[in-house]
Parts: sequence; structure tokens; C-alpha cells
Amino acid sequence: MTKNLFIKTYGCQMNVYDSQRMADALAPQGYRLVEQPDEADLVVLNTCHIREKASEKVFSELGRLNRIKMNREAEGGTLVIGVGGCVAQAEGAELIRRAPYVDMVFGPQTTHRLPEMVSRATRGTEKNGIIDTDFAAAEKFDELPAPTGTNRSSAFLSIQEGCDKFCTFCVVPYTRGAEFSRPQNDIILEAQTLVDQGVREITLLGQNVNAYRNNGIGLADLLENMSQIDDLKRIRYTTSHPRDMDDALVAAHGTNEKLMPFLHLPVQSGSDTILRAMNRGHGVDRFFDIIDRLRAARPDIAFSSDFIVGFPGETDADFEATLDLIGRIEFAQAYSFKYSPRPGTPAADMNDQVPEPIKNERLAALQDLITQQQKIYNASHIGSHTSILFESAGRNENQYIGRTPYNQSVHVTGDATLLGTVRQVELTISKSHSLEGRLIESAGATI
Ligand code: 5AD
Ligand code: SF4
Repeated sequence: MTKNLFIKTYGCQMNVYDSQRMADALAPQGYRLVEQPDEADLVVLNTCHIREKASEKVFSELGRLNRIKMNREAEGGTLVIGVGGCVAQAEGAELIRRAPYVDMVFGPQTTHRLPEMVSRATRGTEKNGIIDTDFAAAEKFDELPAPTGTNRSSAFLSIQEGCDKFCTFCVVPYTRGAEFSRPQNDIILEAQTLVDQGVREITLLGQNVNAYRNNGIGLADLLENMSQIDDLKRIRYTTSHPRDMDDALVAAHGTNEKLMPFLHLPVQSGSDTILRAMNRGHGVDRFFDIIDRLRAARPDIAFSSDFIVGFPGETDADFEATLDLIGRIEFAQAYSFKYSPRPGTPAADMNDQVPEPIKNERLAALQDLITQQQKIYNASHIGSHTSILFESAGRNENQYIGRTPYNQSVHVTGDATLLGTVRQVELTISKSHSLEGRLIESAGATI
């Protein structure tokens, strides 16, 4: 019998990957994905704990789900509610105390046990909610079934979980646990399965993906071995830490043709004082040195980053130093956040918390600068010819959307045969977040 499953995903790409694997794991029990919670027999919220706002969203969504559940039960039906991901990991039993109608609470590393939890929950014999928040990363990757039913040209593949770095603002080391890297063979097999299903671009994921190391194999080796998969056209990886940007990986950007010339490398701040207080383990000079070496290896490489404004103790001068760093690098894009104190992290208890109005001002100024840079970056590509991997249909008729090697979205007029192919395009119009282009019919493209 088919049953309906609704999964809502919050937060990072690792959660997007985990949600897909949850759907794969539940398929043998007859669950198929639906678009709305009110059509579902089982709802899973895959949650994010990184900032307060992300966490609070979960509780308002749970309130809505409880209303659906009560209506359903009044009509003699049922709705099973599961909460997974990082809020579940951090809150555990507390979550069920706060929301007693939740049937299952499970962490990011117990998704492989979801089918068994669901069987127990649907039997209706459990008196209390089911809680499973072990750190079982190795077991999770071993036991999850191979990905199925992919009809996309671009896919995520998690190769590394967790973090040992303990930046003073961050909950990840507590919610995702210690660094764990999957064996290379498992990764290559999963990549091959995805490529057999039509995937042409794989983004390798990890909280600290460039800390990947398993059995003496580092990320540069893994990238080299993955690039041997015929029909895999493009490889990316995210998110990286400057401390783990080793020489082999920098060199790979110059030699591995399938590795796309785009790197998301979070720096968080342009002030050495703040970087030290954040326990980032490197200063501003080291960051510039990495950027210089990457540009030497691959002159056209585009950069993206993450920034936090209003970290405790951040002065006007510290913030100016961040703007100065942005000005010197010229990012193709960047994400920025107001510092959000997270329970249990060292920075939450630091003196000199920055008042909210100042955080707002700094965020606005930083985002203005980034938008300006992004516009300049996109405009600099007008008139150029580039390869685009087409991934989806656009909103307008005959409109298709793909990405350049530099991760820019491009809208092109064409037909559905473009999907899943890499084609040469002339870029014609630029906007701050995307570009428009025109197919160059005769030319083929390989990357
Ligand atoms: N407050 C604000 N931003 C944060 N990030 C992580 N923790 C916090 C926090 N407590 C940001 C960092 C990180 C990105 C994923 O989220 O910039 O790189
Ligand atoms: Fe968090 Fe720092 Fe680890 Fe990134 S490196 S996940 S910011 S602790």
C-alpha cells in the first residue's frame, strides 16, 4: 500500500542530502513523497540549529502540524510526526516535552534507523515518543540504501560529517559530532550510481569537506579518482575551512579539469582579533595567501564566503577590516549573518555582546558591498562564451536554467533536450543574482 511522506528541509545542503536519503530509505515501506503536509501520513522535519531563527521556525511549523494531526485524529485517521536533524540532536527529550505530539526525534546520524522508528511509531504501541540521537555516522553511511530515482543532472553526495574545530560561535561540533570521513570506495560507487541515473555534476558535501581523510586518501586524491568516472562532467565541493586548504588541493584546482573554478571558503571576519576570538585557527594574512595560491593555480577561479557580523567584541574598526577584506578579494557571491548566540557555545557567554541595531547596520552595509561586487562580477562575463550545465525548466515557456562553471545561474531560451546536457552559451544580460544567455548552436562543450 502506498503511503504519503512529506519532508521539510531546513538549513544546509547536508540536510538536503539527508532528506533525499530518508525518502530513499522509506521507499521500501511504500512511502512516496508529496508536496503538502495535509496530504501526508508521515511528516518529517529535517531541522537546522545553526542560528536561533532557524531553530524557532521548527516550533512554529510543529504547531501547524499538531493542528493537522488533531483534525486527522478527530476523523479517525493518524499523522505520524518525526523531527530529525540538528534541532532534534540538540534538544532530544526536551523537544518531546515541548511538543508532546511528536512521535519520533532522531539526529543527523541515525537517519538509517528511520524505517524501523517509523514501523514502531505506526504500530501505535509506543507510549512515549521515540528518541534516537546517537552519533553513528559510520553505521549510517553503511546502512542507507543506494540513492534511487534521481532525475536531476546535479546531485549532492555527503563524504564527510562533523567538525572538530570548535569555532566559538558554532553548534555544529555538538550537533553533528566529531569529524568522520567515508571510505573512498563507497563514495565512488555512490557517484557511479548517480551518474548512471543521469547526474552530470556532483557536489561533494561535508561540514569540513576539505578535512576529508580516509585511509591516507585526502580530498585532492578523491577528486582525482572521481574525475575518472566517464560521463561525470563537473565536480564541486563544499564547505571548506581555510585551515584544511592543503597544497595538493590547491594544485588540484590547476590540474583537475572536472573540478569547477568556484570555491566557497568561509572566512567569517577580516579582523585578526575577531578571528582569534572565534578560534578560527588562522589570521587574515593566511587567508589572502590561500586566495593568492588558488589564483596562481587557476587564474579564473571565483570565490564565495560566509561572514558573521556583530560577533561579541566586534568594534567599528574590526568591521571595517571585514569590509576591507571583501574589497580586496572581490567575491563572486557571499552569505552573511548576524551573530546569533547559541546555547552551550563559548561565544554565547562572552562579554561585549553587540547590540542588535549595530548588527543590523553592519549586516546591511556588508550586504550592499557584496551585492555590488556580485553585480560587477556577473557584468564582467557579458559577451563571453561559457559552458552551461542545464538543470531545470524556468518559469517562462521555453526557458531553461543552468549554471556556469563559476556557479552563476543562467536563463536560456531552448527546449527540454537541453536538460542534463552541457552546452556553449553566450552571456548576454547580467543581473545581480543571475544572467541571461543565448545558445551557440554549433559548438559542443565538455565541461
Ligand atoms: N551566528 C551567526 N552565524 C553563524 N554561522 C554559524 N554559526 C553562527 C552563529 N552562531 C554561520 C557561519 C557559517 C555558516 C554556515 O553559518 O558563517 O560559516
Ligand atoms: Fe562550525 Fe567552525 Fe566547524 Fe564550520 S569549522 S562547522 S563554523 S565549528
